[in-house]
Amino acid sequence: MKGMQTRLVHGGDPNPRIGGAVVPPIFQSATFEQKEGNDYHDGEYIRLSNTPGHVSLHEKLALVCGTESALVASSGMAAITSTLLALLSEGDGLLAENRLYGGTESFVSGDLQRWGVQVHRFDGTDPQSFQDPPPGTKVLYCEAISNPLCRIPDFQRLTDWAKSHGIVTVIDSTFATPVLFRPVEHGFDLEVHSATKGLNGHGDIAAGLVAGSHEMVEKVRRCLNLLGGHLDAHACFLLYRGLRTLGLRVDRQCQNADGLARFLSDHPRVKQVNHPTLEDHPDFQKCQKYMGGRGGGVLSFEIDGSVEQAQQICVSTKLMANAPSLGGVETLITRPASSSHAGVDREVRIAQGVTDELIRVACGVEDLEDLIEDLDVVLGGQLA
Ligand SMILES: Cc1ncc(COP(=O)(O)O)c(C=O)c1O
Repeated sequence: MKGMQTRLVHGGDPNPRIGGAVVPPIFQSATFEQKEGNDYHDGEYIRLSNTPGHVSLHEKLALVCGTESALVASSGMAAITSTLLALLSEGDGLLAENRLYGGTESFVSGDLQRWGVQVHRFDGTDPQSFQDPPPGTKVLYCEAISNPLCRIPDFQRLTDWAKSHGIVTVIDSTFATPVLFRPVEHGFDLEVHSATKGLNGHGDIAAGLVAGSHEMVEKVRRCLNLLGGHLDAHACFLLYRGLRTLGLRVDRQCQNADGLARFLSDHPRVKQVNHPTLEDHPDFQKCQKYMGGRGGGVLSFEIDGSVEQAQQICVSTKLMANAPSLGGVETLITRPASSSHAGVDREVRIAQGVTDELIRVACGVEDLEDLIEDLDVVLGGQLA
């Protein structure tokens, strides 16, 4: 199976088909009959993420990510926290990017520091950040496309640098998905995802993913098993189903985001648009180099107006729901200052470029013309 879409559709399917079912069934059982001669640790048990439903899903995801191994979890945060807990001990250093998803940021700067991990920061888009690492640094952690300004680090440079210092590299690739970017091809040791987003793509489950070498994933699996962060049987089935159309959905979301970004760039009420397919985006070249010129389904923009006007736009669109999250089939609109970044200190947030007026759109797969019209009406009817 060479092609991405073929892997997404057929990867992991049981052979022969179970009862002839073309769609693999839901294995809604917590425990499974022990095969003769197997000891306790070979037993299939839902919390150990080794039921037939988990195994098929892991096979599909490893094929899609191009990794030796993959492991699903009950949410993106379960995948991220288990990974960091598995790799770090008291006294170790973590080099964390300075613009992380809010939940990860709270865990890293709060809990991990409280447990004695030394947390240092770096800017993945600034080569000056890669100097000698602080002593004791064990892990480097970054994100593939940042939320909501769509910044992209220089991945190859980052992993080359980390490798030369013996540092394990982990990337949250939720915004890119394996369709746009496969981190192991650029030297990352582990990738983590919120599969709640694009991988499942239908906004109806929470799920997470860790993928990488067998050895690394096994380390995380031990931690996840003990924390009880497995994915339940029905969610395994839904994630497996969602993955089959990932390629089609990402194609459409990328087209919609690029189209909306260009429409907004020409709009008189808009003063700034952030999407990496726009030639004036600071990471346009990296988007070309690492993602084949497709920048994902999320964009953000700033209007020439007040916070209240920005908020009014978010609650006035008809097709776009005012809700956090991304990667689903329906388009969502939010103001990061009051959603994803509500917990970030205002000064820090503004310094990062996430202003009070900034609006984020996470594109779904609707028709671009309808999305443009939806935004145009709330922006004052340019097209009318
Ligand atoms: C980039 C990123 N990573 C991780 C997460 C956490 O995922 P979950 O909500 O599935 O735990 C999110 C959620 O929005 C996210 O956007």
